[in-house]
Amino acid sequence: MVELALHGGPAAAEGLSFPSWPQCTEQSKENILDALETEAWCRNYSDAEWVDTFEERFSDYQDAEYGIAVSNGTAAIEVALRMLDVHPGDEVIVPPYTFIATASAVTELGAVPIFADIDPDTYNLDADAVAEQVTENTVGVVGVHIAGYPMDFDELLPVVEEHDLFLVEDAAHAQGAEWRGERVGAIGDVGTFSFQASKALSGGEGGMVVTNDDVLAEQGRLVHNIGRMDGKVYRHYELASNMRLSEFQGALLCAQLDDLDDQLATRRRNDERLRAELADIDGISPKPQDDRITARGYCLYDLKYDPEAFDGLSRDDFLEALSAEGVPASKGYVMPMYKQPAFARNVVQARVPANASVPTYRNMFLPGVEEVTSTNISMSHQVLLAEEGGMEAIGHAIRKVAENVDILH
Ligand SMILES: Cc1ncc(COP(=O)(O)O)c(C=O)c1O
Repeated sequence: MVELALHGGPAAAEGLSFPSWPQCTEQSKENILDALETEAWCRNYSDAEWVDTFEERFSDYQDAEYGIAVSNGTAAIEVALRMLDVHPGDEVIVPPYTFIATASAVTELGAVPIFADIDPDTYNLDADAVAEQVTENTVGVVGVHIAGYPMDFDELLPVVEEHDLFLVEDAAHAQGAEWRGERVGAIGDVGTFSFQASKALSGGEGGMVVTNDDVLAEQGRLVHNIGRMDGKVYRHYELASNMRLSEFQGALLCAQLDDLDDQLATRRRNDERLRAELADIDGISPKPQDDRITARGYCLYDLKYDPEAFDGLSRDDFLEALSAEGVPASKGYVMPMYKQPAFARNVVQARVPANASVPTYRNMFLPGVEEVTSTNISMSHQVLLAEEGGMEAIGHAIRKVAENVDILH
């Protein structure tokens, strides 16, 4: 039996270094310098080009007709909800397994987030659970392609259509992901992306709203730019905030986009390798493969951990042993969103109209998300950019832990 690194043995990933993220490239430096030297540092300047170029390139990349670059992924959801005319007191259905922005963007508009449970296998919204939460106040759904794994449009779109709701795709994790051959983002009414530092396409900060609807796109353009029409600096047609992306980030994102396809191809190759490694290990399973997902994206890479198969070894102890083997992993989102202090303390009540009906979030229990938050293990997408031997080292590390469970208790 090979000795665990935790007990002084050689680490399974010894000699390997998993890549850091984000990555500075020569093209990134060149583009940023160019933006600097033009002295057109704001997209409202007539000779500013980088944000325009990035909008065009990225919306095209995601198979969307229109793209509006914004300052971050949270702002992108707020703009999307404004485009769709969400009003204070409206109810918007969201998943409880996501980053808080998916739900807090709803309360920023004075609307009420209603949590519907997720499918514990895919971690995405469960369409039946969504249907159960629809009331006369429901105006739409913000679904998330969590960890770049597209939501089930075949199940979700009929529910949305039946109840005449909008669908926003929070695609913060899903750059390059495809459903039945079409990139995600504009399959629903509006899609939103984040380019924050941890995302698979990063400008440090940044976001984009995409849509195929010209009227919605025009509204998005207005509300992301303090109600201005393009080129009319002191004429405002809406009361709105400033959520513009800077020219430096536009320049950086153009450079990073050049590399996205190659990086996604590496991640997908390594995803396959890792699946092959894990195939014969009980108790640790990647998300199911689904032919309708013609390409997945990556942000976190999630695995389901079953302590029973590891002789009752707790997830914390498993992660500690894995980390000693040189494999970086975490628990991912640690609690259902309704348990976050901001929801459990009912801060929402103060942000919505007094007559709005707000769930008692702290009393909620949705079994799918409760299961996922207690069994999930996540690795960051850059782990899938590892050099030759990286996925084999992860498999080796997990096998070592499995073989040594009796001495880990
Ligand atoms: C699912 C999801 N939605 C929205 C956001 C918000 O993006 P940003 O951090 O760019 O505001 C994030 C960011 O982590 C996210 O993970």
